[in-house]
Amino acid sequence: MNNTPPSAAELEKWSAVDAWLSTLFSPVNNTLNTVLAANFDAGLPEHDVSMMQGKTLAFFITLLQAKRILEIGTLGAFSTIWMARSLQPDGRITTIEANERHAKVALHNVRAAGLLDRVDLRTGQALDVLPLLKGPFDLIFIDADKKNNPAYLEWALRLSRPGTLIIADNIVRGGQILQNDSTDDSVTGVRTFLSVLAKHPRLTATAIQTVGSKGWDGFALAVVTGNDRLPE
Ligand code: DHB
Ligand code: MG
Repeated sequence: MNNTPPSAAELEKWSAVDAWLSTLFSPVNNTLNTVLAANFDAGLPEHDVSMMQGKTLAFFITLLQAKRILEIGTLGAFSTIWMARSLQPDGRITTIEANERHAKVALHNVRAAGLLDRVDLRTGQALDVLPLLKGPFDLIFIDADKKNNPAYLEWALRLSRPGTLIIADNIVRGGQILQNDSTDDSVTGVRTFLSVLAKHPRLTATAIQTVGSKGWDGFALAVVTGNDRLPE
């Protein structure tokens, strides 16, 4: 495959469209801009979702009237805060962050956004924290270390009910996802995750590519359709 990354001109065009859409669809965002600035100042990896992706997560929460959300991978809580803001007043989001420094920044941001009562931030390896949680969640957002995506999907299913929406970030990775001989853990993790997701008997799933301020990437979306595992 031609794996040339997008040119600077392409990226600029995609970002300009994202910026314009954001002025239309999420115009008043002082809190969220402050979070992005805090994450940047703290030197966090620039892996926050984009404004429009954040609005898309919020859209699904409104659509589902979701009250219980699970996020695997908090980073600086940009997506967490987007989601928490669109929850019903009695809703709550549990979010898991492995990196203590990132979790500190996240907690600061959640506090500054006035959302401490809606956010349950757990610091630790997701695979250690997930067994401590009690489902079912209405929406589960998977956005942590991609190599563990297949294991996170198993936990998402355990912590779900029929109707739960599972969303995973970064499933295209600039087209790297096509490399079936990749030695990159993130690529192999996402490839395995997608193949399980696509054919899982308890899920109806799709995946969609995106371009924008985050380059060329995409989301996988799956709805839990059944209670029990079918016989293998
Ligand atoms: C990576 C992780 C992310 O969650 C993201 O949105 C972009 C990139 C990464 O690990 O490369
Ligand atoms: Mg991501």
